[in-house]
Amino acid sequence: MPAGAEWRIIRRALNTHLTHPQKLDTLRGLRHKAVEELIQHVKEASQREEAVDIGELAFATIRGFRKAKSAYSWLDAVSDDFISRRLKHRQSKLPRDGDFLDSLLDFSQENEAEFNCKHIKILLVDLFLAGTETSSNTTEWAMTELLLNPSIMANLRQEVSDSVGSKGKIEESEILELPYLQAVVKETMRLHLSVPFLVPHKTETSVKLKGYEVPPNTQILVNAWAIARDTENWENPMHFLPERFLKSEADFKGQHFSFLPFGSGRRMCPGIPLAQRVVSLMIASLVYHFDWKLPHSTSELDMNDIFGITLLRATPLLAVPMNFREGIRGQTE
Ligand code: HEM
Repeated sequence: MPAGAEWRIIRRALNTHLTHPQKLDTLRGLRHKAVEELIQHVKEASQREEAVDIGELAFATIRGFRKAKSAYSWLDAVSDDFISRRLKHRQSKLPRDGDFLDSLLDFSQENEAEFNCKHIKILLVDLFLAGTETSSNTTEWAMTELLLNPSIMANLRQEVSDSVGSKGKIEESEILELPYLQAVVKETMRLHLSVPFLVPHKTETSVKLKGYEVPPNTQILVNAWAIARDTENWENPMHFLPERFLKSEADFKGQHFSFLPFGSGRRMCPGIPLAQRVVSLMIASLVYHFDWKLPHSTSELDMNDIFGITLLRATPLLAVPMNFREGIRGQTE
């Protein structure tokens, strides 16, 4: 969608109703509940000493955040029928769901001329596509790197355990402040970008770049993947070294051009606060509650190495969870 009036109003709806920190905090219980289900599922697998597919589980958990059973039933959400049923429900005296769809309908009633059901449908479908696989891939890659680097896994587990302490529960608000966990998340996003070329951009005016003249209306692909592995910007760029972020101010909010997993500028990903919460919570919970091992040797990970650069994992990450550890007051709250 070009960055015109329509895009602006959709983006405003998103910032106000989905990714605003206050709004995100009100939906914290929903995220914790989905992660509890994830942990319960992995616990059962650990009792059977069975490997789990981490990417698939993370994907299913994120679908849970979207209230799959009520507001975000994937197929229903895209149909007029779903929205019109919700509108009917709102006209009745029954209590409201108070979820993202309700917020969007409120927003469209306040801004009827510019924002209608068509925009709501675009948002529901686009957000599902934009937020689900990106976050589950990042979680899967983080777990891959942690399994390949047991000392990093141990450091992370120690940090999460210290934060859980005698409270016996993982607090989302606290894990966002854990330096090592956040360094692991950033390093995963540096080495394994979910959107390696960002989303295609287009020049509005003519641009001069390194001696080249790029005319208006040119489609631009930004190779953020290569930038994040450039030896001019990064020491030992092919190695997974979360420690590099402990010593640096570099963040993924678009200000550090050597690190752009979410892009930069006005078309930058609006889902950063949600993605950071979701990915951090899943990694912290998986690492805190279980010891992990690979079903066989590390070569089972089937990395696709070209010239020593790991590009892709050819098969899903299967790993065996062991020794379930319950917090003192039960699982995550
Ligand atoms: C780890 C998770 C995620 C990653 C790595 C990611 C990455 C990106 C990237 C690279 C872009 C394009 C930016 C550009 O071209 O400059 C983008 C756009 C976008 N993302 Fe995300 N994203 C993630 C999660 C999410 C979530 C959770 C949501 C929504 C809830 C979301 C919604 C969007 C939307 C709507 C756009 C298009 C924005 C526009 O065109 O104005 N993303 N994302």
